[in-house]
Amino acid sequence: MANPYTIRISSQKGGVGKTTISVNLAVALRNMGHKVLIVDADYVNPVVGFHLGLENINKGFKSVMLGKANLANSISIHSPTGIHVLGGEQSSGMYEPNQAQIKRFDRLIKSTSYDFVIIDTPPGFSQNNFFGNSDEAAIVITPDIQATASAMRLSQIFGKLHLKHSIVINRVRNRRWELNVEQIEDTYGNKVSALFPEDDSVPMSIASKIPVFMYSTAPFTKVMEKFSRGYSLQISVPPAAPSGGGIIGWLRRVIGF
Ligand SMILES: Nc1ncnc2c1ncn2[C@@H]1O[C@H](COP(=O)(O)OP(=O)(O)O)[C@@H](O)[C@H]1O
Ligand SMILES: [Mg+2]
Repeated sequence: MANPYTIRISSQKGGVGKTTISVNLAVALRNMGHKVLIVDADYVNPVVGFHLGLENINKGFKSVMLGKANLANSISIHSPTGIHVLGGEQSSGMYEPNQAQIKRFDRLIKSTSYDFVIIDTPPGFSQNNFFGNSDEAAIVITPDIQATASAMRLSQIFGKLHLKHSIVINRVRNRRWELNVEQIEDTYGNKVSALFPEDDSVPMSIASKIPVFMYSTAPFTKVMEKFSRGYSLQISVPPAAPSGGGIIGWLRRVIGF
């Protein structure tokens, strides 16, 4: 059994699209036939459950991290897609797991049989909220100077830790005051792996609790299809179901997206 490939979705700023990208990356990989777990590790603003219509999963990550609950018993299944979800819990005050707890949690995750584990994280870069065993990270920014500049620090830290990472630009509107991809590539050194457009289907889908990836015509979905394929190629385990149709193809036909 191969270890799951763990992808950490990070940002320095909040509100740039980490959760949106985490949830839809999980769904897109599942649609290709992969076994996927999404972990809501954002103890500042845990909203993965809201995106998936699983509002009742308000515990999981913290209890498992602290050794108070068993991982397998804390996982919920999102039945429309089949992704597995370790829900998040909001913490009053700063909740910072210690290094021993993080190591133990990483070992637990690595011992599962998922193909992919997607970790949605709180904004920022404190050493303690860093999950050392992630195989890869994506740093989400918006195409403005504040998000681009603030995420530089995160990219440097990941670089020092030899953590493979790429830059994902979200909410691109192609306005003349936005930074363009060349300027952002110059800042980070050719690490941009995707440009997600500003797309009204995203807030619409969150309001209706259906991941935007299931809206086949959404511009965001087209980019996510390509982005997720890149990760699928990273692992040697072939997807269990044929790509293209999959569960979500079926669901799209049934519910008419
Ligand atoms: N590509 C996009 N197009 C339009 N709205 C978006 C897009 N990505 C994110 N959003 C909106 O931005 C808000 C914040 O996104 P979220 O994924 O919660 O950010 P984060 O997890 O980084 O705090 C969401 O309410 C969502 O509707
Ligand atoms: Mg979030």
